[in-house]
Amino acid sequence: MNHFINIKDISASVLRKIITDAKKRKLKRKKLNTLDPDKDANLKGRLLIQMYEKSSLRTRLSFSIAIKQLNGGELTLRPNELHLGKGTESLSDTAKIISTFGNAFMIRTNSDRKLEELKNYMTIPIINGLSPSSHPTQVLSDVFTIEEIKKKPISKLQICWIGDANNNVINSLIEASVKFSFKLNIGCPKKYQPKKSLLAWAKKNKSKIKIFNDSKKAATKADVIFTDKIISINDKVNKKEKLKDFKNFKVDAKIMKCARKDAIFLHCLPRGTEVSNDVFLSKQSKVWQQALNRVYVQKSILLYCFNKLR
Ligand code: CP
Ligand code: NVA
Repeated sequence: MNHFINIKDISASVLRKIITDAKKRKLKRKKLNTLDPDKDANLKGRLLIQMYEKSSLRTRLSFSIAIKQLNGGELTLRPNELHLGKGTESLSDTAKIISTFGNAFMIRTNSDRKLEELKNYMTIPIINGLSPSSHPTQVLSDVFTIEEIKKKPISKLQICWIGDANNNVINSLIEASVKFSFKLNIGCPKKYQPKKSLLAWAKKNKSKIKIFNDSKKAATKADVIFTDKIISINDKVNKKEKLKDFKNFKVDAKIMKCARKDAIFLHCLPRGTEVSNDVFLSKQSKVWQQALNRVYVQKSILLYCFNKLR
């Protein structure tokens, strides 16, 4: 079995294998309905247990559909209804029970430490469905979407991130830029640069990252412009102040003009004020395709976790 917790802990060849498998799966589903299983669905009888300590729409839906398309089943736990959530059962006992009843565990959590501890106690694969420091399933799916739309390996493209450069999504994108060897320009205010330890890791692993404190410079000649919410879920910051700090980092038509003519706009959603409505709803925006693609990639991630990726 394999865990799926951070992109940086998974080899580049396995990550590529997941993307390739997802591409094949998507092609083969053209005539199928949402709940029809994949032709080679081989997780019959397997139960995915999910738990969300933070809100979710896309991750929840995509994992529920993904496991069903692989012929498995799913159960979602509400953390506030568990003994663990009420402080009357230990993490280790909870992990043991989840491992005994289920075959894989997907968690969206408020705590990276909890994820690490759970990993140590679980005897089934654990998947990180977003933590304070990373959002690996999202970013892997975004690599899939970019290559699908651009019809090129991502290593041949210029990717740009505008916005908060110290959150879960950009952390995973930085890790992906190393694993898939793509150029990443980051445009962010000085106060919100990427974490130094992550940048040091990236540098050591031959990253192609450039940081700008000017959003137009960062976006110049980009093939893909990404952004994310300025205020992440449960972000304990002075919201008014943080939003003010980002007033020059909104993705609008002027920013898109700096990018290549055929550049696309991506956003993992949900959105806030970091992107103008006209860009978000423009032809360049591929956010709906991006969201739906998560189903395909989650399936290949699940198969990797069960050691069934061919
Ligand atoms: N992008 C994403 O993870 O969406 P949800 O928070 O709705 O799951
Ligand atoms: N950075 C965002 C991503 C949401 C999917 C958050 O953590 O809220």
